[in-house]
Amino acid sequence: MLSSNDLRKKAAAEKAAEFIQDGMTIGLGSGSTVYWLLKRLGELVEQGLQIKGIPSSRRTEGWARDFKVPLTDFSQVQSLDIAIDGADEIDPDFHLTKGGGGSLVREKIVDARAKQLIIIADESKMVQTLGKFPLPIEVVPFGWEATAQRIAELGATPEIRKKDGDIFVSDNGNYILDCHFQTIANPAELHNQLKLLVGVVETGLFIDMTDTVIIGAETAEEIKVIHKNK
Ligand code: A5P
Repeated sequence: MLSSNDLRKKAAAEKAAEFIQDGMTIGLGSGSTVYWLLKRLGELVEQGLQIKGIPSSRRTEGWARDFKVPLTDFSQVQSLDIAIDGADEIDPDFHLTKGGGGSLVREKIVDARAKQLIIIADESKMVQTLGKFPLPIEVVPFGWEATAQRIAELGATPEIRKKDGDIFVSDNGNYILDCHFQTIANPAELHNQLKLLVGVVETGLFIDMTDTVIIGAETAEEIKVIHKNK
């Protein structure tokens, strides 16, 4: 039996799958909400839907293979019709914090090539201001302590991400610093400041990328599809 949270994630993912049309190339995000998308896409492919996806993490790639969702890569396609991804925080301007699962770099590469980005989440991800969720920043392993000091000078408390007692290594062979800012008043400015620091590969701030947010709910009537005002 699924938990209430899983039911919401599944509902958001299945709603997002309704935006997919025959022939589309799709950016496949990462995280537990996206798992339900892959499962649904597998069902649709079995029913005859012709699509190809580019996964944004090794984990997503594994799910795509499990559910028999055809894959492609950027040597074959220049842009994606749509990308569907999760988020850790979503603010009222649809700026996001992502990277809780450690896939922020590949997610940003994939999401940035999509003509339309749909974010799927449960209500708990909607916030007034980003920052309560520690901001994931991918950094080069060499000298990561020095990079962390530079990030700290911008007002954060960086913490090296660990898994099972060892330093977590991203799909790209880098480290992740989870940076406690508490409040991120100006996400675009902070992103730009961080990107200027040598050693920083990418930040988990996704600015001005999202077109639509789908908030899952336990009943179909309660699911929210919110399009960004452009
Ligand atoms: C992966 O690195 C993240 O950006 C995920 O998209 C994000 O953490 C949301 O994950 P869940 O769907 O598991 O909450």
